[in-house]
Amino acid sequence: MTEFAQNIPLNLNDFANASRVEANTKLDEKLRGKLGQFMSSSAVSKLLADMFENVEGEHRLLDAGAGVGSLTAAFVERVKSDATSIDSTCFELSSVMNHYLLDTLKHCSNTHEANGMHWKQTVIEEDFIQHSVELLLSNTYRPTYNKAILNPPYLKISAKGTEREALRKVNFETGNLYSAFVGLAIKLLEEGGELVAITPRSFCNGPYFNDFRRLLLDSCSLNKIHVFNSRKSAFKTDKVLQENVIYHLTKSEPQRDTVIVTSSSCAEDPKPFIYEVPFDRVVSESNPDRFIHIITDKEEQKVASRAGGLPCSLGDLGIQASTGKVVDFRTRENLSTNYVDGSVPLIFPQHLQNCAIEWPIENAKKPNALLNNESTANLMVKNGTYVLTRRLTAKEEKRRIVASIYTSDIANVKVVGFDNKTNYFHAMGAPLDDNLAKGLWVFLNSTLVDKYFRQMNGHTQVNATDLRTLRYPTREQLIAMGEMVDFEEFSQERVDQIIVHLL
Ligand SMILES: C[S@@+](CC[C@H](N)C(=O)[O-])C[C@H]1O[C@@H](n2cnc3c(N)ncnc32)[C@H](O)[C@@H]1O
Repeated sequence: MTEFAQNIPLNLNDFANASRVEANTKLDEKLRGKLGQFMSSSAVSKLLADMFENVEGEHRLLDAGAGVGSLTAAFVERVKSDATSIDSTCFELSSVMNHYLLDTLKHCSNTHEANGMHWKQTVIEEDFIQHSVELLLSNTYRPTYNKAILNPPYLKISAKGTEREALRKVNFETGNLYSAFVGLAIKLLEEGGELVAITPRSFCNGPYFNDFRRLLLDSCSLNKIHVFNSRKSAFKTDKVLQENVIYHLTKSEPQRDTVIVTSSSCAEDPKPFIYEVPFDRVVSESNPDRFIHIITDKEEQKVASRAGGLPCSLGDLGIQASTGKVVDFRTRENLSTNYVDGSVPLIFPQHLQNCAIEWPIENAKKPNALLNNESTANLMVKNGTYVLTRRLTAKEEKRRIVASIYTSDIANVKVVGFDNKTNYFHAMGAPLDDNLAKGLWVFLNSTLVDKYFRQMNGHTQVNATDLRTLRYPTREQLIAMGEMVDFEEFSQERVDQIIVHLL
């Protein structure tokens, strides 16, 4: 038993927190990154535990990637005066963690039994993914957990890795450990069981998490979401810069009418802001990819109604958004620093400046041109008018989507290349009509679109799928927008005035 266990404080959260602080000093830094060992403070653990709704009766609790047991401890602390029994199962791979975990569980069982309740515990020092998949595939398996609490490891899993192979056996395709853990926990949960997890919010949008969102929204109701207003607030001492969310799900329950969204500056904030949002605003029916919009207040809901309620999809406008076709390192031999005979402009994010195209750029990091030959023919698009955005926004950029118009007069060429760190809007493969492109430029550079985009996208990456998911004004409205703007110099104020005037 560790020195903490001999000198037991009363509160289980405080006990686990002390173990966490000591365990942090014993972890191998390399292994720490590999196993995603960023542990929950007592304040974070309490936030998770407080989300559970049914605290009475028998609890069969799953804590996958349990660390020192902070989340289990917070759960036991939460239900200790209402529960009749707790059957706790913790999965933890690391032996350093398990040493502390056993102490935490001992303390939980003492507290629980002192209240006259029944306590049972199982610690499984195995890979949660492999273990769960085997369990789910066995003929005799029946879901047994009615509660799951998780702060899973966050790490990409490779398409050919053993985890992916195992997950496919249970028809689940996902590329991150966190979504794999939460997805499997959902599968292991009984009908009516509750799950609370803290994870990055990257699953809320984008194609990589389509399968996970489907599993989550088809098999559970999404009832509560907690967000932090600052990137560092959940794991500030660990320098984790991911934007995290905490959410509460109930298995096999139909979606409720509303989702409770709370937001706070940090986990210790005593007064989180509470806002109730209609479910169909959080997950819009018009979006087949079912992005999850996190709307935290009335102002944001207004934005969601205005931007999400616009009449057209990109398809309705005869427009498509695609990722640029040129992957520079795959065609190194055809890159040219300068625009020379036999080459055409190659547009990189560096050329997208102040919502316009600046080309060529001398002494730049990236080349300015691509040789036009047989091997590059399929990387080109017809020279003409297009709207381009960066896939990654720079820190100094005020908006996530920054659009620039590319026009054919840049060079006397038949075709042009767009790098794959850019997205481009086109008319189903052909250049855009000039007037429509101008309107699209105004719309995409508006504060309305930026605010709406931030509700579904917590990171700085803008994928073509995100652009396809936005709703757009009508063709006539877009053309009218283009006619009202002066393209000489970008003015945010003017763009926003036009949007207010026309939408
Ligand atoms: C993000 S930490 C969270 C720990 C704890 N739940 C908390 O909130 O403090 C994730 C934990 O999962 C463990 N882990 C990583 N991969 C695992 C796997 N495949 N199976 C079981 N545990 C794993 C790590 O050792 C680490 O302790």
